[in-house]
Amino acid sequence: MSPSPRARRSLSPLLESQPTCKLRRAGFSDLSNAARTCSLAFDDDVLFGRLIHPYRKSYPRDVDKYWYRRFVVDFWDWSHVFLVTTEPAVDKRGGIVTGFAHWSRIAPGWRENYRAGWGLAWWDPRRLLEPIFRLLTRISTFLSPNRAASKEDELIIERSYDYLDHIWTGDRSESWYLECLAVHPDHQKKGHGRALVEWGLEQARKEGIACSVIAADGKERFYQACGFDVGPVGRAGEGEGNPLREVAGGLVFFKEKQGVVLPVREYGSWTYGLGVFDWDNWQNKVGRKSAEEHT
Ligand SMILES: CC(C)(COP(=O)(O)OP(=O)(O)OC[C@H]1O[C@@H](n2cnc3c(N)ncnc32)[C@H](O)[C@@H]1OP(=O)(O)O)[C@@H](O)C(=O)NCCC(=O)NCCS
Repeated sequence: MSPSPRARRSLSPLLESQPTCKLRRAGFSDLSNAARTCSLAFDDDVLFGRLIHPYRKSYPRDVDKYWYRRFVVDFWDWSHVFLVTTEPAVDKRGGIVTGFAHWSRIAPGWRENYRAGWGLAWWDPRRLLEPIFRLLTRISTFLSPNRAASKEDELIIERSYDYLDHIWTGDRSESWYLECLAVHPDHQKKGHGRALVEWGLEQARKEGIACSVIAADGKERFYQACGFDVGPVGRAGEGEGNPLREVAGGLVFFKEKQGVVLPVREYGSWTYGLGVFDWDNWQNKVGRKSAEEHT
């Protein structure tokens, strides 16, 4: 059996550029600490906190189950990458996870990921781990439900998946996509978030593909500052019947693959929705840019 592609990727350049925190691939044993960090970081978030977990104050530890169950199946999919930041003094695999990122390599099919070194051969027995963990997760959800979650909205994200497929097409069909990013509230504004984002941007650049994210409400400027310089190109709540329609935020940003410039998406019904993003300023900038291009 050839060594796992996971083991072959080096993180050293990022470690050197982040003297205050340590960035490394997450081990399976990090996932429960990562789940705790996500519960704390998203506690007041409009989607993961307030909408999905209205009973989180009564059952704070149950929110961890939500996050853990999201990660524990994908962890065994070789096209997903889990990263943590830790403070060196407390990093003993069991110490505090100060930051966490879940990246996935979006592609039209598993073959593209396999060819790029992010998949297992069809005969590889490690492929069995994902369905096994999916089954175990179903059983544990049945035996130990998440009491902090709303029954109607616990799976609202899963129900909205198909509405955005049109965005990851053409030059954007292969992309490193940031599924989840969270920094422990006690460790924010120390560069951990940026280091976790830089991994995906750098990996996409090396592979010559795009990089993408759906920003939570109010986090748009953070991602733009990190390097996602194209967008919004979509909104998580767009499309007739999308259950996320009334949820604030969810704007999609890209770092395009090198050399690609795509037309700006026109302002329209897809921009409908609540949130702090300054659409007037965006329209002015877009208008100015196209005027410059035509002079
Ligand atoms: C968003 C989040 C991950 C940022 O992590 P962080 O470690 O605090 O961010 P960093 O310290 O790496 O900040 C990088 C840069 O972004 C800026 N920044 C951070 N949060 C910002 C925000 N909400 N709005 C605008 N800029 C922001 C920082 O000032 C910094 O700029 P600088 O490098 O010019 O000084 C963190 O606040 C968090 O976990 N929030 C709750 C969960 C969440 O919303 N996750 C994102 C879901 S899409």
